[in-house]
Amino acid sequence: MQDVRVIGHRGAASLAPENTLASIRKAFETGATWVEIDVSVTHDGSLVIFHDDTLERCSNGKGLLEEASWDYLKSLDAGSWFDPIFSQERIPSLLDAVQLIQSLGMGLNLEIKYEGSDYPRIVDPTLALLNKYWQEPDMLVISSFNHGALLRCRALQCRYPLGQLYEGIPANWESELRAINAYSLHCDYSQLSYKQARAIKSAGYQLYCYTANEPELVAKHWAWGMDAIITDNPPAFLS
Ligand code: G3P
Ligand code: MG
Repeated sequence: MQDVRVIGHRGAASLAPENTLASIRKAFETGATWVEIDVSVTHDGSLVIFHDDTLERCSNGKGLLEEASWDYLKSLDAGSWFDPIFSQERIPSLLDAVQLIQSLGMGLNLEIKYEGSDYPRIVDPTLALLNKYWQEPDMLVISSFNHGALLRCRALQCRYPLGQLYEGIPANWESELRAINAYSLHCDYSQLSYKQARAIKSAGYQLYCYTANEPELVAKHWAWGMDAIITDNPPAFLS
């Protein structure tokens, strides 16, 4: 596992309720030095750490996150669904998460989770917050499936490395990466071919793979030049 960055997915999603502060702490306790978390925007423009469009799976709330207020979200229990011992966990604000991650000395892969096309709505306040509170540009990678959001990052002279996320890699990946002056390509390891991996590496990009929870699943990807693995279960990759 040498020389591959091990990134805890949604914190350490197999060990604690995903995208909570407890999950970030758990990743740290396992020895992970980086975490991936998802940032979304609420109805009233607050930036929160949450993966789904709807609140039901990972909290005791109801309805769409994009229709919820921060006042409502911060009252929810975001941990009991995983285990009652986490009943005190709340949906974190981006600021809470950033401050915790920095206090732990960890790196952050911040995924912008946004399906709309009003890119400034999420990108502008996210970058403003990071510019104010994030100290180490080299310890942060911003990624998104939403190419428009990444173009918006670039248009704002974002000083952090940018990663384009894909499930399967489309034919036009190289032009998309060039357009955002990308640092990395992030893809579902199970949809990656040897040929694609070599092309990505030959073009000079970092190759990040998600989400594998057993090292055997990505053994060949290591040999193909994978630079980072995003995993729910960091200890499996750190021993
Ligand atoms: O950033 C990698 C991975 O988190 C992307 O997919 O759905 O788990 O956010 P998802
Ligand atoms: Mg994610």
